[in-house]
Amino acid sequence: MNPNDITFNFADQNFIDDPTSVMALLRDKCPVHHTIEPSPHFTLTRGEDITAALRDEKTWSSKFGPGLAYSEPGVGVLVSSDPPVHTQERIAISRIFKASVIEKMEMDIADLTEQLIDDFEENMSGDIIKEFAAPIPLTVMCWLLGTPTTDIGLLRSWVLPMAESVAATKGREASARVKAAYQDFFEYFGNHIEERKDLLLSGWEVPEDLLTRLLTVTNKGEKLSTKKILGFCQFLLVAGSETTTLMIGNVLHQLMENPRQFELLKSKPELIPNAIEESLRFDAPVHGLFRTNTEETTIHGVRVPADSKVCMMFGSANRDPNLWSDPDVFDISRDPKNLRNHASFGVGSHYCLGAPLSRLEGKVALKAIIERLPKIRENGPPTQTTAGVLKGFASLPVRWD
Ligand code: HEM
Repeated sequence: MNPNDITFNFADQNFIDDPTSVMALLRDKCPVHHTIEPSPHFTLTRGEDITAALRDEKTWSSKFGPGLAYSEPGVGVLVSSDPPVHTQERIAISRIFKASVIEKMEMDIADLTEQLIDDFEENMSGDIIKEFAAPIPLTVMCWLLGTPTTDIGLLRSWVLPMAESVAATKGREASARVKAAYQDFFEYFGNHIEERKDLLLSGWEVPEDLLTRLLTVTNKGEKLSTKKILGFCQFLLVAGSETTTLMIGNVLHQLMENPRQFELLKSKPELIPNAIEESLRFDAPVHGLFRTNTEETTIHGVRVPADSKVCMMFGSANRDPNLWSDPDVFDISRDPKNLRNHASFGVGSHYCLGAPLSRLEGKVALKAIIERLPKIRENGPPTQTTAGVLKGFASLPVRWD
């Protein structure tokens, strides 16, 4: 097969229907894929190439953002910045995301999962994404950002179009729906930040959450600008909610599809963290994200001109037979140490800060399902997420007895 005949982009129906096969074909026959659809970009699919690129941030810059569109440098945070700014931004929030701090949320997350199941258990069937997998991380984000938990529906209505815009040629300008989501988000969070600033000035007790941290942290005596704080809130909300929702849906889906693995897990609940990790490897919730190369480079004989958008396919690195034995087998009893080397949380300096939090949410959610709904099974075809760079379900009908 001529490598030029392999079609890939996030909107391509073949990829949407069977991403695993398309990634395998690319890895094998066309490890540096180039396309002009929907706008020019390259894609790396071999684990070794992706890891090497992500560890070389001088060549593979994040300054034009993680999406297909070139975002304006200096506007976005974290995944849209390079050192030294990136390092400062990471330091500003890393304390909140340390595993030791996150672990303290376990009881609250467990209470939340119990409450959610109490609310729908008697129905005997439902959509586990809408009723369980989505509200968990969104509620946790409300705790972190200090917004009312009753607003999770509103927050999700912005997160979904924002996530879709990552694979869109025009990014934040992709469509009226995307533009409106950003606009409404900035208005809501603009007001919310002002209210918190007033509370800080009032001398009353202030929540010790992520928002207070963002408003008070200083670098060389300087506080973050309101624009930056809005950028943090926007990115964290998108990064921390739908990804974790997909992860919870994906692990439940694989377990329901693989009854022997599900039975093994029920008989050995100590494998729950491993099941979460294997799900992350097997079904990376983020297929891939983009970098922009600062200079011309040649990989496997393919010339990649400077300033190209290049997608790093985390999901493909996780299925690379050069890195994993039986990569296409879902096996919750893989060696836990090795398993954590999957690329689903990224690689190198942009490694996901929320990894301990999402692992905790996944663990608590799965434990609750096993204890409360052990006979959960599929109840009709699921529907897939419409965000091109994401993998997982928009709805996952289930029943139990
Ligand atoms: C299963 C759930 C999650 C997945 C699959 C995931 C995936 C990722 C990936 C792939 C990156 C690297 C981006 C890049 O290299 O350009 C990343 C970065 C990041 N994630 Fe997550 N994430 C998840 C959950 C979370 C949560 C819960 C939070 C916080 C509430 C979070 C916060 C972040 C932050 C702050 C970064 C940026 C780090 C940096 O640029 O230095 N993530 N995530």
